[in-house]
Amino acid sequence: MMVPSIPFRVFTFAALMLILHETEGIFKYKNIKCKCYEKSYCEFTTCELKVLGRGIVGLNMHAQMNQLPVTRVKAQVTTFRRFSGYRPFLYNVTVDVCGFMKNPKRYPFFFMVHDAIRNFSNFNHSCPYNHDIIINRMVLTDEMISKIPVPSGYYKLLISMASEGIWRGEVEAYVEVNVGYDR
Ligand SMILES: *[C@@H]1O[C@H](CO)[C@@H](O)[C@H](O)[C@H]1NC(C)=O
Ligand SMILES: *[C@@H]1O[C@H](CO)[C@@H](O)[C@H](O)[C@H]1NC(C)=O
Ligand SMILES: *[C@@H]1O[C@H](CO)[C@@H](O)[C@H](O)[C@H]1NC(C)=O
Repeated sequence: MMVPSIPFRVFTFAALMLILHETEGIFKYKNIKCKCYEKSYCEFTTCELKVLGRGIVGLNMHAQMNQLPVTRVKAQVTTFRRFSGYRPFLYNVTVDVCGFMKNPKRYPFFFMVHDAIRNFSNFNHSCPYNHDIIINRMVLTDEMISKIPVPSGYYKLLISMASEGIWRGEVEAYVEVNVGYDR
């Protein structure tokens, strides 16, 4: 009897896709964009996603600060969800960064964002800041998103930074949440 080979290949392909899908994790990067508004103030020399290993993607970022020290830092974090376009969704918080570093628990959402970044970054101490801001091989873990029960979909996190009351730049992180069903 001739075993038809095409259906068999289709089957193994489907099984492989299933395995990849299963091991991919529920929280993934899709894209990253960084922008400084004035080069005389700051420049991004690195802003990239890099494959670190099988199915592991890390974020590398280097914001070169051209006017130090950085003082009176404000961050605004806004989350968007993609429908036909990206629309504001769930969070829009403004944080005094130096105040936050002294008393992080007062800002629960920014605490979660910073907690995800700080192990991979020198953005990890109280003010003042006298150096470039570097993020090195930051990976996303399913645990990071576990505290925010958002539905499966595509999201954007926009972090805008100001110092001395002037908006200086922004980072947009595009991510996918895929829990395999709508929660
Ligand atoms: C987020 O909040 C800031 C400050 O309150 C406001 O200026 C901005 O328009 C808000 N953004 C969105 C997308 O609602
Ligand atoms: C950061 O590092 C600490 C100490 O190694 C660890 O306990 C914590 O779980 C890490 N946090 C993240 C978000 O990886
Ligand atoms: C912050 O990160 C830098 C660079 O990774 C590290 O050398 C330093 O010990 C960290 N500081 C704190 C307070 O965790």
